Amino acid sequence: MDTGTDVFHAAAGALAAEGWCALPGLLSAVQTRALAAECATMHDARLLLPAGTGAGRVASALRGDSTHWFVDGAMSAPQQMFADRIDALRIALNRELMLGLVDCESHYAVYRPGAGYARHLDRLRDNDARVVSAVFYLNSAWQEAEGGALRLYLADGAYRDIYPQAGTLLLFLSAQFEHEVLPAVRDRMSIACWMRQRRLGGG
Ligand code: OGA
Ligand code: MN
Repeated sequence: MDTGTDVFHAAAGALAAEGWCALPGLLSAVQTRALAAECATMHDARLLLPAGTGAGRVASALRGDSTHWFVDGAMSAPQQMFADRIDALRIALNRELMLGLVDCESHYAVYRPGAGYARHLDRLRDNDARVVSAVFYLNSAWQEAEGGALRLYLADGAYRDIYPQAGTLLLFLSAQFEHEVLPAVRDRMSIACWMRQRRLGGG
């Protein structure tokens, strides 16, 4: 049994049915720990910078995280491993759902205690490139009492809280689901990733 592609198949089925899913199995515990260790080390070395919300704006009131973008051709071994795996998922989603996803962009994000990200949509203004949002969590032994949920708003006004437990992959359709990051009482680490289509709008 190839568990490596089972998780892709499960993700495609859930995305088609519900538009979102949270599932384990993207990476092993060892691979997940390597990413968590690198993210924490880079954060300690102040290599993550305060995030903007597009158009080059910095230090947004909307979001309190710091980020480091993964740069093609300049990735560490853990970053490359993540990028290869998420790209394999992208190709599997194209095959199963015919989404026409051409590439991925990813960054580490660290939210310090008390920091969050107000309710938003991942589609940037005037840019319809982002189709699937993927968030991979890096925090070992996360307790719900520590807060930090990703609150995903569903069409009927209900919501789901997904906790940022190491190894959980959250996927949702970027154009359809508003979501917010609730503040936590400890550092909260993740990799945020977007699978993109060729832009339909000009510019
Ligand atoms: C984002 C985002 C969610 C998370 O970066 O756009 O919504 O759980 N991140 O880190
Ligand atoms: Mn978001």
